[in-house]
Amino acid sequence: MNRSRGGWRKTLWNPETRKFFGRTGESWLKISAYYVIFYAFLGGIFIGTILVLLMTLSAYKPKYQDRIVPSGLSFSPYAANFDIIFKKDDPSSYEKYVNSLKKFIEQYNDEKQTDDMKFEDCGAIPKSYTERGELDSKAGQRKSCRFSRRELQDCSGQNDTTFGFKEGKPCLILKLNRMINFRPTPPSSKSFDNLMPVHCTNRFEVDKGKIGEIKYFGFAGRGGFPLQYYPYYGKMLHPNYLQPLVGVKFTNVTMNKELKVECRVYGGGYEKDRDTYIGRLLIRIIINNTCFGSHC
Ligand SMILES: *[C@@H]1O[C@H](CO)[C@@H](O)[C@H](O)[C@H]1NC(C)=O
Ligand SMILES: *[C@@H]1O[C@H](CO)[C@@H](O)[C@H](O)[C@H]1NC(C)=O
Ligand SMILES: *[C@@H]1O[C@H](CO)[C@@H](O)[C@H](O)[C@H]1NC(C)=O
Repeated sequence: MNRSRGGWRKTLWNPETRKFFGRTGESWLKISAYYVIFYAFLGGIFIGTILVLLMTLSAYKPKYQDRIVPSGLSFSPYAANFDIIFKKDDPSSYEKYVNSLKKFIEQYNDEKQTDDMKFEDCGAIPKSYTERGELDSKAGQRKSCRFSRRELQDCSGQNDTTFGFKEGKPCLILKLNRMINFRPTPPSSKSFDNLMPVHCTNRFEVDKGKIGEIKYFGFAGRGGFPLQYYPYYGKMLHPNYLQPLVGVKFTNVTMNKELKVECRVYGGGYEKDRDTYIGRLLIRIIINNTCFGSHC
């Protein structure tokens, strides 16, 4: 018993050989130095690799971005499968669309755009691009053009908080998706100076004449995206950026019918024969009217 205890103790510290855990002080020093150098070397390689990666990636300029594909067209409200289906006289059937629109348009409230350090007025009519310097961090955060939801008039959700749904005249709000450094180019026709126009129509011949009149509401009363809101400098340099919007109101759709509507944005890169669907939306609209025939 005593012996084995003494043996164990000797393993820990053997006064005869002056070994600690079987090694002399010099041996421990050497092995420690070896591992310190070894791990320092591994750590150096690791940090070096990360630094090289960071140097080649700029946080501001997208490194890999297809410059040919333009920014896509999208809309609010959120609509699963791009279906807008509701009953005119049943608020619960269109509540989800209205709530989605309300949530979306809130960021365009005037009271959220009062800070002159963050926002500026960019004119009353469509103008050319607003250049805000290089796409790097040196100049810091850039101002954003104000865009008031009031521009959307009947689609602003201000007077009619159901965005037309309660009358069976629903609004959709269209926008181009954010894309850093993207400069849209309008159609060459002079009537669209500095504006990317939007147009909606029946997708198929069978629906011709059934969609009814479509009204467009947007910047300066124009149904399009004005160029002075571009380019976008990215989340870090342009944190308060607001995309220009176009409200599209279907004022006289044929009820109780499935209608396929196509909305398109026109301009460079959005040519009709392009095999991408990036500049167009295909939306199915079905509005049920609970009263039929002469009772309406
Ligand atoms: C909302 O209603 C007020 C008062 O009726 C009117 O002055 C204003 O122009 C309306 N706004 C819109 C966007 O229709
Ligand atoms: C609505 O559309 C119908 C045809 O579907 C047409 O007869 C009617 O005149 C239109 N109403 C308005 C106000 O344009
Ligand atoms: C709308 O009406 C059509 C025919 O009147 C019916 O088949 C469809 O189920 C209705 N849809 C809704 C959402 O009420």
